[in-house]
Amino acid sequence: MMQRSVVLIKPDGVERNLIGNIISCYEDNGLKVIHLKLMQATREIAEKHYSQHKGKDFYEELITFITRSPLCAIILQGEDVIARVRKINGATSPTDAEEGTIRHRYARSKTENCVHASDTLESANDEIKLWFSELKNIDELLNK
Ligand SMILES: Nc1ncnc2c1ncn2[C@@H]1O[C@H](COP(=O)(O)OP(=O)(O)OP(=O)(O)O)[C@@H](O)[C@H]1O
Ligand SMILES: [Mg+2]
Repeated sequence: MMQRSVVLIKPDGVERNLIGNIISCYEDNGLKVIHLKLMQATREIAEKHYSQHKGKDFYEELITFITRSPLCAIILQGEDVIARVRKINGATSPTDAEEGTIRHRYARSKTENCVHASDTLESANDEIKLWFSELKNIDELLNK
């Protein structure tokens, strides 16, 4: 199934000049970048993005981290892109992430783990609307 997923190269990845290496991991797997921008997340957008984690012990640290400097927001497109990207990214913690994954290679901690990717079709649609609200053709980008 042709799908779209939102990937965020988080502030640690941008600060450490890893944008190119990380995007290559997706492109080398046949996934297509269809939108891309650098932006600094406001607290408002960060809180919406991570609303499911509100109240957890790592929540404040996570919001401070994701808003501290620019991130790179991307829409990737491909067959089964949602599952494939999560496999390419690897497990949340670098110590659990399989060899060859982005997080195994580049992540430094459970919070500073370089990348985010949508986990379901529904969250991909919500994240496209949240992070790319300025796009005029946004309806065409949603997974239907
Ligand atoms: N136990 C934890 N301690 C510190 N930070 C955490 C912890 N669990 C999650 N995080 C941070 O919150 C983010 C969102 O958590 P989630 O459980 O959705 O992980 P994920 O789905 O692997 O990652 P993402 O949603 O960023 O792709 C993680 O990517 C990580 O940055
Ligand atoms: Mg998640």
